[in-house]
Amino acid sequence: MRIVVAGGTGQTGRLLVEALRSRGHEAVPASPSTGVNAFTGDGLEQVLTGTDVVIDVTNAPTADEAEATEFFRVSSENLTNAGAKAGVRHHVVLSIIGLERASDLAYYRAKLAQEVAVRSGGVPYTIVRAAQFFEFLDTILQANTRDDEVALAPVRVQPIALSDLVERLAVIAESDPVGGTVEVAGPEALALDEIGRRLAAPGLRVTSGDRPFFGADIPLDALVAGPSAYLAPTTLDTWLAGRRR
Ligand SMILES: NC(=O)c1ccc[n+]([C@@H]2O[C@H](COP(=O)([O-])OP(=O)(O)OC[C@H]3O[C@@H](n4cnc5c(N)ncnc54)[C@H](OP(=O)(O)O)[C@@H]3O)[C@@H](O)[C@H]2O)c1
Repeated sequence: MRIVVAGGTGQTGRLLVEALRSRGHEAVPASPSTGVNAFTGDGLEQVLTGTDVVIDVTNAPTADEAEATEFFRVSSENLTNAGAKAGVRHHVVLSIIGLERASDLAYYRAKLAQEVAVRSGGVPYTIVRAAQFFEFLDTILQANTRDDEVALAPVRVQPIALSDLVERLAVIAESDPVGGTVEVAGPEALALDEIGRRLAAPGLRVTSGDRPFFGADIPLDALVAGPSAYLAPTTLDTWLAGRRR
């Protein structure tokens, strides 16, 4: 299949393009650095010609809520409008587990606008809500670190290895559109303070904080996968062992 990966030059996109190619697909990264801009529409018509599936793993180039919302909404409208014209049969978009339960977070409100645009776009779709990546856990810790202290609370996440996520995205892209949402997570739900104790650099003290997720006030289980989620095999311990090698 010809599969265009919007955001195919990013952290997720690069691994996804590799995974798709190793499964025999013609995987085409599409992003500003390859001459395709989902937000302005530049290059979309050309890249989507003859395309079976689009997987959107773009990210907003700004943290500003209004701008990020506009980015996700307009990019999804452009991708699905151009996709419908080109006869794309499946639009897959990468979203986040628990978005609506964690709506205190501005970035999650922006991602919700992306999901709304995909649902009302003209291409059959699957919204893949993933858990936080293992590769993102250090960023969460850094955001809560002041001097030698990292303030975390028992908010639970169910993190996943990016290598597992991209394999699952490839399987979903090869399957029929769901016309709704599926969840993909790691094998274990873990509290952020527990993760902090396992990952924190020597000398850092893990203390308790009440807004451990980028300053947002979110329910303790908001980010945990539901009972029908696909659970990937790699545990945090296995992933950490691989990182240390
Ligand atoms: N971090 C997590 O734990 C987590 C969990 C679940 C879901 N997600 C979602 O995963 C997605 C990907 O995240 P990531 O960390 O892999 O992103 P990333 O590394 O920041 O990569 C972003 C990609 O988007 C592309 N892009 C930016 N503006 C674009 C535009 N106008 N048109 C087309 N492409 C554009 C970039 O292209 P250039 O390289 O050309 O600039 C790059 O390829 C995000 O939507 C995020 O919400 C993340």
